[in-house]
Amino acid sequence: MDSRVLLKRDIKEKQELVNIILDRFLPRKDEYPKDIHKAIRYSVFAGGKRLRPYLSMLAYQLFKKDVEPVIPVAGAIEMIHTFTLIHDDLPDIDDDDYRRGKESCHKVFGEGIALLAGDALLISAFELITYANLEPEIKVQMIRELAQGIGVNGLISGQMLDIESEGKKGSQKTLSIIHENKTARLIRLSLRFGALAAHATDLELKIIDDYGSKIGLAFQIIDDLLDIEGNAEELGKTVGKDEDQQKVTYPALYGIEESHRQAETLIDQAKQSIHKFGERALLFEALADYLLQRKS
Ligand code: IPE
Ligand code: IPE
Ligand code: MG
Ligand code: MG
Ligand code: MG
Repeated sequence: MDSRVLLKRDIKEKQELVNIILDRFLPRKDEYPKDIHKAIRYSVFAGGKRLRPYLSMLAYQLFKKDVEPVIPVAGAIEMIHTFTLIHDDLPDIDDDDYRRGKESCHKVFGEGIALLAGDALLISAFELITYANLEPEIKVQMIRELAQGIGVNGLISGQMLDIESEGKKGSQKTLSIIHENKTARLIRLSLRFGALAAHATDLELKIIDDYGSKIGLAFQIIDDLLDIEGNAEELGKTVGKDEDQQKVTYPALYGIEESHRQAETLIDQAKQSIHKFGERALLFEALADYLLQRKS
């Protein structure tokens, strides 16, 4: 079967698995105090590609058949990602009114609740990891690496530089620090956690890290390009905002054509890297191609 068809089917199956664990783990929307649970569920279940949890499950299955043990980790990563989106949309960050095809969390529930919903998702994600049926040492390692990857020397620093650089020219060095931290790190960690859970060797982890860094950066370059060339309806979020807000992005610094070229090069490099796993890397290669062509 065509690897694109296989990929599509696999993504769909794994999206369902992550939705099930999130639905089981998150408090019902009529639990007390209602509005926070409503807001959390509103944003988590608004849609979303579930790319990061998919990556965890895919990396796990490079080594093991049964995907079950890594599902809580995958769910936790999606909770963290959703937290970053809720906060990213707040008026003092990107001030975005649409997300995942709906009004953003703060537009519906107000800024206070959106802040708290993000906080709750971030904190509960760490709890969910502890429930995974994995060795305690591996879970401690994940919790440590996650805190480092999304903390003040990771994702938060990327977001910090992103807002601080608004309206400024921005150097290529700053741009690469922003993109590496705000986006590529969580993508890399998602893959890495799947591999860690499956007891990958250091050498195997290195290949997966390399693939993750490359697709992670490419992912944000494509996101920058979609903000210019994409369609708001397909994307489920507003377009043209980066230019309005004078964000430091790849197209702003390198131009549209060169940004496409760099994304393509990164995707090629990612495929070359992961090809070291031979036949087993088929879906990873198809995924890399899909990320380059995605419209949403
Ligand atoms: C959007 O991520 C934020 C970025 C890091 C560019 P996604 O494009 O993965 O968003 P969802 O989860 O599908 O909504
Ligand atoms: C998103 O970057 C990074 C995080 C949410 C951590 P953007 O601000 O470009 O993402 P979108 O375009 O709003 O989804
Ligand atoms: Mg942003
Ligand atoms: Mg944004
Ligand atoms: Mg963007």
